[in-house]
Amino acid sequence: MSRIVKKSIYVVAGARPNFMKIAPLIKEFQKESVNFKLIHTGQHYDYNMSKVFFDDLGIPEPDIHLNVGSASHAVQTASIMIEFEKIIIKEKPSLVVVVGDVNSTIACALVAKKLHVKVAHIEAGLRSFNMKMPEEINRLLTDQISDFLFTTEKSAALNLKREGISADKIFFVGNVMIDTLITNLEKAKKLKLLDKYNLKKNDYALITLHRPSNVDTKENLEKMLNILNFLQEKIKVFFPIHPRTKKNLEKFDLEKNIKDLNIVLSNPIGYLEFLNLMTNSKLILTDSGGIQEEASYLKIPILTAREGTERPITVDEGTNTIIGNDLAKAKKYIEEIISNKYKQGKIIEKWDGQTAKRIVRIIKENLNI
Ligand code: UD1
Repeated sequence: MSRIVKKSIYVVAGARPNFMKIAPLIKEFQKESVNFKLIHTGQHYDYNMSKVFFDDLGIPEPDIHLNVGSASHAVQTASIMIEFEKIIIKEKPSLVVVVGDVNSTIACALVAKKLHVKVAHIEAGLRSFNMKMPEEINRLLTDQISDFLFTTEKSAALNLKREGISADKIFFVGNVMIDTLITNLEKAKKLKLLDKYNLKKNDYALITLHRPSNVDTKENLEKMLNILNFLQEKIKVFFPIHPRTKKNLEKFDLEKNIKDLNIVLSNPIGYLEFLNLMTNSKLILTDSGGIQEEASYLKIPILTAREGTERPITVDEGTNTIIGNDLAKAKKYIEEIISNKYKQGKIIEKWDGQTAKRIVRIIKENLNI
């Protein structure tokens, strides 16, 4: 007697920037009665780096938790692979969906592909062209072995084609993170946070900082703190500190270099709180990838403390400017923003809240489910 086995899909998430990307997909899979399992690798594990996002975004408890935790790149990637391989062998899903560019992304894509399980990569084709960024290596390798490459902006398909990826695997669908933002915007706006943190609407800067290139050496971290201190002279600053940055501020004894002029320091905050604080801010200074996109969608001026961006549309059409760790550039743009002379930004194609729908439709058609 033949038994009908329903095709199943694994959705992988592991680190903070993954959670807002899987939330709309999971809702869409549920709506379309697609059989899926959520796998949490455990790359991030603190309440405020992981669970708060599940709570804020209504993501169900993971079906499987790999509990890998923090370690060097090799150890972390290898631990994820070892644990993920066990479950793939046991259950042989039809598709593994990975998002973004963190170590969990490449680790799970590689395991799946070697066991002949198809891989879908959401946010494919973004390139910083900087191989010193661990994320760039993760992106390049994940894209090479993916069967479905879902892209957020047009530059991505050009990058992929140049790398020899055939056009029929590439789908320009838009940005799942913007789906999440649109879904949660009204809820986030209702939070009463300005009083809690002693901030005034349109009268503070929000700063996030965690890239190894900015925080892992004393010299570069000092440069970032110089920009931060200049910013404080101009406008109040709210700074939720990433665990990597906190550790390094302590290690290099640089906490004392943060002037206490006009600043509110906090632990990392949840999705809804951060969205609320973005919408009310005058400007954002960051080295994050995703925040460049969120701020561009919200039309909030954003200065990115990196040498380049894998998300060029945020500079060309959005509100983003790349400033590296250059204090002179930072000063110029901060002044421009504060005196309301900064660029406005445009609406970006397919960042419309419908991306997860497009992705799930394509997956269903291709897998015949
Ligand atoms: C990772 C991603 C990066 C992403 C970032 C967002 C990679 C290569 N990097 O960097 O792309 O932008 O997440 O946060 O995957 N830690 C905690 N609690 C946690 C998690 C981490 O305290 O829940 C501390 C640990 O000391 C750890 C350090 O943060 O060693 C770094 O964590 P890790 O996951 O290695 O990299 P991130 O810098 O967070």
